[in-house]
Amino acid sequence: MEFVIIFNKLKNLLAFKNYQEFSMKKIYFLFLFVFISPSLIRAQKVGNNITLDASLDEYKINKIIYGQFSEHLGHCIYGGIWVGVHSPIPNIDGMRKDVIDALREIKVPVLRWPGGCFADEYHWMDGIGPRVKRAKMINSNWGDVTENNHFGTSEFLEFCKLVGCQPYITGNVGSGTVQELSQWVEYVNSDNLSPMTELRKKYGRDHSWGVKYWGVGNESWGCGGNMTAEYYAEQVRRYGTFMRNYGKNKLFKIASGPNADDYNWTKVLMKEDADYIDGLSLHYYAWANQRTATDFDESGWFDIMKKTLKMEDLINKHSTIMDKYDPLKRVALVVDEWGTWYKVEPGTNPNFLYQQNTMRDAIAAACNLNILNNHCDRVRMANIAQVVNVLQAMILTKGDKMILTPTYWVFDLYKVHQDAMMIPVKVSSSEYVYKGESLPTVNCSASIDSTGKMHISLCNINPNKPEIVNISLDSFKVNKISGKILTADKMNAHNTFKDPDVVKPAGFSGFNFSNGNLSVSMPPMSVIVLELFGKLEMKPMPEIKLNNPNQRIDYNYYEIENGMMPDFNFLKPKSSGLVNNFIIPKGVREENFALKYDGYIKIPIDGLYTFYTTSDDGSVIFIDRKIIVNNDGRHAPIEKSGMAELKAGYHKIELWYFQSGGGMGLSVSIKGPDMSKQIIPANILFREK
Ligand code: AHR
Repeated sequence: MEFVIIFNKLKNLLAFKNYQEFSMKKIYFLFLFVFISPSLIRAQKVGNNITLDASLDEYKINKIIYGQFSEHLGHCIYGGIWVGVHSPIPNIDGMRKDVIDALREIKVPVLRWPGGCFADEYHWMDGIGPRVKRAKMINSNWGDVTENNHFGTSEFLEFCKLVGCQPYITGNVGSGTVQELSQWVEYVNSDNLSPMTELRKKYGRDHSWGVKYWGVGNESWGCGGNMTAEYYAEQVRRYGTFMRNYGKNKLFKIASGPNADDYNWTKVLMKEDADYIDGLSLHYYAWANQRTATDFDESGWFDIMKKTLKMEDLINKHSTIMDKYDPLKRVALVVDEWGTWYKVEPGTNPNFLYQQNTMRDAIAAACNLNILNNHCDRVRMANIAQVVNVLQAMILTKGDKMILTPTYWVFDLYKVHQDAMMIPVKVSSSEYVYKGESLPTVNCSASIDSTGKMHISLCNINPNKPEIVNISLDSFKVNKISGKILTADKMNAHNTFKDPDVVKPAGFSGFNFSNGNLSVSMPPMSVIVLELFGKLEMKPMPEIKLNNPNQRIDYNYYEIENGMMPDFNFLKPKSSGLVNNFIIPKGVREENFALKYDGYIKIPIDGLYTFYTTSDDGSVIFIDRKIIVNNDGRHAPIEKSGMAELKAGYHKIELWYFQSGGGMGLSVSIKGPDMSKQIIPANILFREK
């Protein structure tokens, strides 16, 4: 009955008697469309539901995602880290003790230095030897101040040792030379009898420091030399060639990557340099530099949330490009500058980038860390800008005083994720609506640490409204839960030298757990980290049944342009066929081709199996879709192996192989509980007919 009435009303509405009526109704429909329909759509998205699949913990959250950045800029180094050996401020060999202790507390895993833009003007030899004799320079990027070079290579490496973190040094490509960077690596890492080693010894350091992480320039598209992607890609090869490995220390070379959404930069760098680098950086800031960090209303809050959440889109898009050239994700995406950027605090030098830090920054940091955690398959290092007194800092100092910012406390809460296994999360969130725009209100990341504890970090970005979040824990059986919260009653709540504890974590018990479901009451603008004690109950792998097993395996043959492992998803095979086992079929060309083999291996008894590949060039074995042997790369025949605990029965086996040029070859072996090492025999390899 009701339906008939509504139908008739609609019919009347749609019938226009004359032009005036048509215009009136047009306005009415427009009103309905603009104001009613979005809220109808939104109405469907109420409630926050999160599902965690603890059985899918394939990727580690590399602890160096929690890295920091220190630049010779404003009072980051001078005043923030370095006060000099004669300072009345308590110090260890010239370095602030309070800052060291605070950074140790949040377990800073890696520190980037000396820039930033400063790196491409820095000449490292000016910063070694007796301090009084060190050359001065003008820091033309940051206020034309005189740099006395009192904080140089050995001071930085000593500071990292005191903090307990790994150093990450950015080399000068913009205004330096290949020789200068090559010699810096030698000075820092070589124990050979060499001029740079002698120089280091002369200045009091006998043993090399063994620094692994090196940047090949910074922002080479901008302050690092205004280069084109193509030109820079060549410079990376040139500089990278002469950055040598010394002893057992293999360098991890990070090329200067794109500015935010410059996807072409990523494409060119990956196409030209994927084989020569270990990481590609990404710089992205949430800018709002018209107003200071504390001077904003809800529109300023919403703006920063929106810009912050864009990080997810940037990482997805850059990763998709990287996947095309590096499907095995060998090259890391290194987000080595991120954070918020505002107008400087009144009365401070505009070139010193000194800003306060509020609850808004805490939420921005938590969102970013959730995004970085969730992308830890590709993002394997990140460095917030910057550690002390610059941009979104952990610490602010004034003379001998120090305060810890809301962002510091987020890093403190989130340190539990360092080196833990990431648990994929599916989030269905309500919307935070502001002036017709909306953002997902809740975001989350989760991990299991080496002691079996699960941590869930949640963020409610809405400054006005509390949220209930329902979490389904799947295969994790919970015994006990505890929690911590960071929140405030004002959007711009912050810590000051007078009042240093306004924003600080507190214990949290606003959760309820019953029948495997966890429900969390999140106050407005809050960050919550829950710790769950319990046990992961793995679901057994479903047994594979082949209806019509047939000995032999399938292969696809591809002709490729550049000799490296392709992303097979983007390729069409040139031909296909069957083989008895993993041999290179007849009819392939001599160079630039790839093969993908698919089939099933029948494991005779439960146990631990070792798989081996000897290949020229690269190959990778997947068992049940997990990489077991990674022998990728352009190389002469080398053997690599990997192990898998397997149940008796069929398992999916896949092998990728590519040939670049020169010699070619592939041989694949197995060893098991009652099998000596042998080429995988044809009689245990199958396909479904
Ligand atoms: O972090 C401040 C500056 O921002 C860095 O020096 C530069 O790399 C970026 O543009």
